[in-house]
Amino acid sequence: MTSEPGRVTGFVLVVAAIAAVAGILFGFDTGVISGAILFINEEFSLTSVTTEVAVSSVLMGAILGALFGGPLSDRVGRRTSILAASVIFIAGTLVVVLSPIFSIFIIGRILIGIAIGVASFVAPLYISEIAPESIRGALVSLNQLLITVGILIAYGVNYSFAAAGDWRAMFLAGVIPGTVLLVGMFLMPRSPRWLMFMNRPAEAATVLKKIRGTADVSDELGEIERSVRTEGAGTLSDLVAPAVRLPLLLGVGLAVLQQATGINTVIYYAPTIFQFAGLTEATASIAATVGIGVVNVLVTLIAIRLVDRAGRRPLLLWSLAGMGIAMLLLGAGFALENSGAGGAAVSLGQVTAVSLIIYVAAFALGLGPIFWLLIAEIYPLSVRGLAMSLATVTNWAANFLIAATFLSLVDLIGESGVFLLYAVVALLAWLFVFKLVPETKGLSLEQIEAYFRSRGRPGG
Ligand code: BGC
Repeated sequence: MTSEPGRVTGFVLVVAAIAAVAGILFGFDTGVISGAILFINEEFSLTSVTTEVAVSSVLMGAILGALFGGPLSDRVGRRTSILAASVIFIAGTLVVVLSPIFSIFIIGRILIGIAIGVASFVAPLYISEIAPESIRGALVSLNQLLITVGILIAYGVNYSFAAAGDWRAMFLAGVIPGTVLLVGMFLMPRSPRWLMFMNRPAEAATVLKKIRGTADVSDELGEIERSVRTEGAGTLSDLVAPAVRLPLLLGVGLAVLQQATGINTVIYYAPTIFQFAGLTEATASIAATVGIGVVNVLVTLIAIRLVDRAGRRPLLLWSLAGMGIAMLLLGAGFALENSGAGGAAVSLGQVTAVSLIIYVAAFALGLGPIFWLLIAEIYPLSVRGLAMSLATVTNWAANFLIAATFLSLVDLIGESGVFLLYAVVALLAWLFVFKLVPETKGLSLEQIEAYFRSRGRPGG
């Protein structure tokens, strides 16, 4: 088997960076609602139930988008799916911005969700299929970097329009990255691997030559062709083929674990958690929240530098260890405070700030970027869109469940109980990764496929 390290060209970096703009849409909509919701509440006179609908409708849409995005990306291609997602995103944003009544607002939010659901996995999928293996981890993780940047931009936009109470302007800002993605992707080539899968080898060769900057792409093309020939047609029943079972378990398992370790309770509820900890001044808790957003971006940059050198496994294991320890610290802090033993050398506010920063840094170092990276690497070409879509639906559904249950869980078992529960889940996730996740750094997608095929064989 050839293992030519694919050539890194300026063009391939541009292609990856443009596709990664999809991450900004994801992050922006994750962050913008928290600032806008107060004013939306006022304008449409929402109850607590309709407020929940306003917040979670985007997650519902994302589940739908992720569900249909798989077959879409296998049929019409990765590039066309991202283009479709950007059009739906812009349309949804305009519906939200112009909505005269609440029900139309919700339709817009669902459209935005559908777009994000599709883009959230087709962008990493597309990048993984054009990237040379030596920097595939870094290029796919650009998508996660732009998710974290999108969250931060949303905080900035929220802040800028909060004084005027202009929630429509907050949402309107999303049109800018939406348009950049639409125009940018229009100029980008199709995925060469998808072209081969559709039996269009001449076009695949043209694209490969361009992105690799060389006239001789026969080795890589041959490797892709062999893997296309070995595989079936790529139907739903192929999802349970022996070679796909383990990758499927990994994708779905990591999807649940990425969410069940609590990241979005921190991203969505950081100001609330700080208030639980006694940091009642709004400015202090907002500053602390922005600090978390900045750490998320900075450490993701570090992960991008490390992921193709240290590898996926060590980063994931360190990441989960850090997240577990941080949650343990946070849970212990709240438990001590509640038992009356707190108030010693450090305040609960300080413990909370330090643990949340460690937690987010640890997430950004591994589980954040590497979940999306691994699901873009571990599936055979014939079912890649379908299988990624399944892992992504699971991720959005888990995101929805964890966010929806956080406050009621706190009522039920207390803050310390919830954080200790996340620590236990982090431990389980560590064991899951330790036992099951293989190292994929430096391997071509076809080599990864061959690895899982050999594991799927009896006695393999
Ligand atoms: C997760 C999101 C999360 C974000 C935070 C992503 O990898 O899938 O649910 O909000 O990271 O940075």
